[in-house]
Formats: sequence, C-alpha cells, structure tokens
Amino acid sequence: MATPDARQLKGLEQLLAAARYAEAESLARALLVRFPEHGFAWSALGAALLRTGRAAQALEPMRIAASLAPHDSRPHHALGNALRSLGHLDEAVASQARAVQIQPSHAKAWFGLANAQRDLGRLDEAVAAYRRSLAEDPNLAKACLNLGNALQELGRFAEAQQSYRRALGIQPDWPAALFNLHSALLCTDEPVAAIACLHQAVSLNPGDPTFRFFLGVLLDHIGQPGAAEPHWRMLESGPAVGRARLDAWRYLKSSARAAAPRLLASSVQTFQLAVHAAAREGLVLEFGVRHGKSIRQIAAMVGQPVHGFDSFAGLPEAWHREPKGSYSTQGRIPNVPENVSLHVGWFDHTLPRFLIEHPGGVRLLNIDCDIYSSTKTVLDLLAPRIMPGSVIVFDEYIGNEFWRQDEFKAFQEAVDEHGWQYEYLGYSFATKQVVVRILAT
Ligand SMILES: C[S@@+](CC[C@H](N)C(=O)[O-])C[C@H]1O[C@@H](n2cnc3c(N)ncnc32)[C@H](O)[C@@H]1O
Repeated sequence: MATPDARQLKGLEQLLAAARYAEAESLARALLVRFPEHGFAWSALGAALLRTGRAAQALEPMRIAASLAPHDSRPHHALGNALRSLGHLDEAVASQARAVQIQPSHAKAWFGLANAQRDLGRLDEAVAAYRRSLAEDPNLAKACLNLGNALQELGRFAEAQQSYRRALGIQPDWPAALFNLHSALLCTDEPVAAIACLHQAVSLNPGDPTFRFFLGVLLDHIGQPGAAEPHWRMLESGPAVGRARLDAWRYLKSSARAAAPRLLASSVQTFQLAVHAAAREGLVLEFGVRHGKSIRQIAAMVGQPVHGFDSFAGLPEAWHREPKGSYSTQGRIPNVPENVSLHVGWFDHTLPRFLIEHPGGVRLLNIDCDIYSSTKTVLDLLAPRIMPGSVIVFDEYIGNEFWRQDEFKAFQEAVDEHGWQYEYLGYSFATKQVVVRILAT
C-alpha cells in the first residue's frame, strides 16, 4: 500500500500538536486524495474537525480510521471520545471497550470507557474501569477525580474522599479536586475540613465566584455569617450566576421555618433525606429519567414500585441557553431495576392515562425536567394527588442563573393556586436540588 512520506506525516502530527487545525485539516485532506487508505490521515482529519467544534462531521473520518486499524487501540479510543461528546453513549462504550480489548494497558481508553459508563449511570462498572485505568497509569489524576465523583454518586463518601486526596497527591493545588473533596467531606459531616478545602481553592483562584459562594454558604451554615460577608460582597458585583446563587441562598434563608433545612452535598444524600421524610403511603414518581441515574438511586431506597416518565427525546423546547432536544437519549430507553416502570412519551400524554389506572396520593415525587412548562404540566395534573406528607424533590430549583423562571416558578404558582403549605427540608447548591414536604393542602 502506498503511504505518505515520513516527513509529511511528521508535519501533520506537528500541526495537530500546535493546535493549527485548519492547516492540519487541509494537509490531511490533501494526503487522503492520494492515500485514501491511510488510517492516520483519517484520524488527523477527524481530530482537526473535532477540535474545531465539528464533532458530528468528525465521526465519519474517525470511524474510517478505526476500521483501517483493527490492531491499534488509539483510533477506537478517539472515536469513543467523540461519540461521548455527542451523547452517543452506547456506541462510545463499545468503541472504548474495543480499544481496551486491543490494548489492555491503554489507561486513557479505560478512562474513556469509565466516563461513558458513568454518563449512562452504570456506576459500578465505571468504578471498576476507573480503577483499571489507574492500575495502568497511577498518575492519571483526572481518573482519580472522576473515580471520586462516581463513588460519591454511589454514596461511598469515604472512598470518594480517598480518591480526591489521591488526585491532589498527583496534582497538588488542583481547585476542582479541592472543591469535590469539600463536597465529599460535607457528606460525612466534616464541615471544618470542607471549609479548609474551600479556603485553599479560593486562595488558588480568588476570582472564582463558585468557590466563594460555597465557602460563604458553609461559613454561614456553621454560624459565622460575618466571615461570609466579604464573599457575598464580591459575588454581588460579579457574574450573573453568582448573583443568582446568592439570591437563591437568601431566599432559602428567609423562607426557613422553625427548623433550618439541611445542607446537602450529593444526590444520594438528597434522596436519602427525601425517602426518609416521605412517610405516607402512595405513589413514587419521577419526571425526567434520561439515562436512569436518579431513578436507580430512588428505586434502591424506596422498597416499592417506582414510575418514571420521559419522552427520551430531550427538552420539548429551548431552556435559556440550551436548545430544544437537550438531554435526549436519542430514543434509547435505559435499563432500570425491576421495581421501575417507564412511561415513554410527553408528560401531557402519559400522565393522564397513568392517573386513570393508578389511584392514590403521592408519596415521593422527583421532578427533574428542568423547564417551567414541563414542571407546570406535572404539577397541574398531579395537584389532586398531592397530600399532606407528600415529598417533592426538585432538581433544577436553585443554583442556576434563571432559577426564578423555571421549576421554582411552576411550584410557586401551584402553591398559590392550590393553597399548599410546605417546608424546605434540605437543599444542595452542588446538585441544585431542594427537598420539599407538603404540610397542608
Ligand atoms: C435533566 S434530564 C433528567 C435527568 C435524570 N433524572 C438523571 O438522573 O440523569 C431531563 C429529562 O426530562 C425529559 N423531559 C423534559 N420535559 C419533558 C416532557 N414534557 N415530557 C417528557 N419528557 C420530558 C427529557 O427528555 C430529559 O430526559
């Protein structure tokens, strides 16, 4: 087979390494006219397209590169990364699995496999793959970080802390690892150690509004509101998202009843609190299932049937900066535990039918459909089933820039319309969730 000369290939490699993607694309295309079977030229074209924001166009050259190299793990790994960036998670898993089959010591392919598995909510498999990537390359700091995140999502907080600490051992002064360690420490009720992590993150990155906000919340939480003030002042004159978080924090503080709501730092903690508080009998429902991450967490805790509702076609309309169709699984229905039934379609079609067949009030409701209109549909249709003692978890209630226009707005309108009394039991700016208990209807 004719191949480009070594000098041209070196040149292509150097253009990519120097991020000169337009030139790399031109050279790769020119080489492919003469050498259409050359795998590296296809790989380089794919990489140039991917890195210039054309992931969908990159897939075809990357697929060709992978098919031309059945014994080289790298093009399969690169294809897997591109597929994941486009949300084609099953195919991403398959490509990374192929890469590690070809080269079992390919640490980054194990890492890529774990990332795609984690996106799919296959957390145990992801943990195993992250561990394998670290066995192959003990210095892969981002594998430690993401392993920590997967362990945290599994509620294995002490192990998550260990993993973040290991990440910091490899890459000291890493703000993201310090931030995640602070969350895991809060989950084991260690606010002082969590504050130390945030102080370090703030000193590394004094202009970052996220670190300052979380530090301010924690300082206030442990009874040092004065120490939070300088952080609030900085947030007040900073970017919109910081101001919106502060607004949500002040709102939550002002609406607290006798007992202050619990500060939560992970979705497992949120659902544990919600399930424990949801003492009445009744339906357990989730709106917004996607790959099934949260419904698996809930199903493992409630000891009864759970019903999940989703179109699996993503958001039915644009959500601020996110386009219509975001969070689609491209129609793929996730695997779910035995006690979960899925109701596929738009809520305004599936829920009325469901309610005819399922009498009774709501025990626990997880609303994770992000936008105002979907939340309003759910609350309007379910209103007659919301009872004193019903518990509602909202997922995008606080913490984003437009929080007052989305789930919060739909819930407040329902409260006004139906005269519900309620209390906030817990909140988490890390996950943007709140737990609400209905007191009277
Ligand atoms: C953020 S995702 C849910 C995430 C999920 N709970 C998890 O644990 O990863 C939001 C989901 O809501 C669904 N959705 C939003 N509005 C909907 C509607 N009106 N009818 C059906 N599904 C809807 C989307 O298809 C999307 O899968």
